Amino acid sequence: MTVQLGAKPLADFSQPIEMMQDCHRRIEHFLGVLIKVTAQYGTRELTEEARQALAASLNYFANFAPRHTEDEEQSLFPRMRASQCAEVREVMAELDRLERDHRQGEVHHARVDQLVRQWLASGSIEARQREYLQQALDALASMYAAHIQQEEDHVFALASQQLAPGELRDMGEEMKRRRSPHGLRRGGVGEASDPLPIVARDKGGPPCQSSM
Ligand SMILES: [Fe+2]
Ligand SMILES: [Fe+2]
Repeated sequence: MTVQLGAKPLADFSQPIEMMQDCHRRIEHFLGVLIKVTAQYGTRELTEEARQALAASLNYFANFAPRHTEDEEQSLFPRMRASQCAEVREVMAELDRLERDHRQGEVHHARVDQLVRQWLASGSIEARQREYLQQALDALASMYAAHIQQEEDHVFALASQQLAPGELRDMGEEMKRRRSPHGLRRGGVGEASDPLPIVARDKGGPPCQSSM
């Protein structure tokens, strides 16, 4: 199953906001894979290609996507919360909701991980289990659609405008260390580099201009 999502070059650690947008494209891609394979193979035996697609998606959400949540909650959101810009502070009122989305998403991802691992082990999935899986995937799709739009249209757009170059540089360094074997991470498989080629990015609109 192809993973080529777009033609634009990947951002690097000198472009932390753009890297976060690239992560969103991966989240959308791998969630889409789970949804597509469930729709196509939920009532029949898995093929080897379908197995590999499921396994790749589980691996992404277990070992790579959590770094994105940490990037936001540990590197981006605290810097936004510290901003003195009135427009930033208004948007930041949404941060609590975004963090609640993260926690809710973790619950759904744990459910998906459990069900898909059972599916991979047996080669087929029973009707009730498939229904539970579909419910969890639907919940994730709905949550991510609103969540990603909110982050990209408001939070990321303002961050690009309002965070100082030094803050963005520090964020990029933190993101790099988070993905190193001896970095900031809390455990799990090392993430030396991005797992996929990606994607078109939209730059957010310019808001409040400050002296930062
Ligand atoms: Fe988020
Ligand atoms: Fe995000």
